[in-house]
Amino acid sequence: RPQWRGIIEEYRDRLPVAPDTTPVTLREGGTPLVPARVLSDLTGCDVHLKVEGANPTGSFKDRGMTMAITRAKEEGSQAVICASTGNTSASAAAYAVRAGMVCAVLVPQGKIALGKMGQALVHGAKILQVDGNFDDCLELARGLSDKYPVSLVNSVNPVRIEGQKTAAFEIVDMLGDAPDIHVLPVGNAGNITAYWKGYREYHESGPATRAPRMWGYQASGAAPIVRGEAVTEPSTIATAIRIGNPASWTLAEQARDESAGFIDMVTDRQILRAYRLLAAQEGVFVEPASAASVAGLIQATEEGKVESGQRIVCTVTGNGLKDPDWAVAGAPQPIVVPVDADAAAERLGLA
Ligand code: F0G
Repeated sequence: RPQWRGIIEEYRDRLPVAPDTTPVTLREGGTPLVPARVLSDLTGCDVHLKVEGANPTGSFKDRGMTMAITRAKEEGSQAVICASTGNTSASAAAYAVRAGMVCAVLVPQGKIALGKMGQALVHGAKILQVDGNFDDCLELARGLSDKYPVSLVNSVNPVRIEGQKTAAFEIVDMLGDAPDIHVLPVGNAGNITAYWKGYREYHESGPATRAPRMWGYQASGAAPIVRGEAVTEPSTIATAIRIGNPASWTLAEQARDESAGFIDMVTDRQILRAYRLLAAQEGVFVEPASAASVAGLIQATEEGKVESGQRIVCTVTGNGLKDPDWAVAGAPQPIVVPVDADAAAERLGLA
């Protein structure tokens, strides 16, 4: 069986690339769609997890980045820049290495997970920590790309959305049709825009007989779309979605309205509960922001919004290893034992 070739080769006819385009790729996409037994029991539905943490740099950003960096290289750019809460910068840094380009990243000081910072560093990105939040970083990145010869690879770059829409294609290809409901976390709102575009295209051109309702979830301390106004001091432990003024705000509302879905919010406590449930009961380790989708599904179930018997896909957007602090926090200390089978057995409750 041939190896998965990455999203550009797998979906070339549905992406804005030239016939002779050579992708800059790490063979992203083709991620697992995992049946979620416990969540299915809880909701009375057929729930699946789209595990985007299985991408090469550990998040869904790779789908958009293969497109953005491929395009930037074709256009002759020698440098790319992005603002990021961590995952975009990790992905941009890795793909820039593949393309032989310089990568600059702007991150909010002290507010990105260590694993993500490590990725940007080890891939050799130039990192500027900005004394501000993500929204400030994005403004700065846009200003720099307007004025200097450097390509912006944030999701305001439309080819990013094109790449990310392939996740919806994969889901339909695997399930045979679109699900009834698709649930995902919302930060800068590029991904909900991308999924909706993908589902719509597959519906309009044949592979799917319908499109799902899109359910998006923001963190309650960073929920501008839910509250209907920008949040100047966004705050949540889910640093990936700590965003107060999403760039794709209007497009996210369009996805919500056209799909007859909604965008709601969950608290950090709900996010952490879902984070632990996913790891301890489904065997899937995600980063906190990713658990917002599952926290939302649980909340909607408790509110009686989930009719049983539906097929539901939750995107879990990033890998748990990026931000392991929350896994360790509050967990019991490991037990120290001597090199002795009887002693170890006793501690394990086997003896
Ligand atoms: N989940 C994770 C793990 C993310 O990193 C992000 C966004 C989102 C969800 C939200 O997706 O912005 O398309 O609505 N991270 C960006 C970054 C902002 O810089 O890595 P969105």
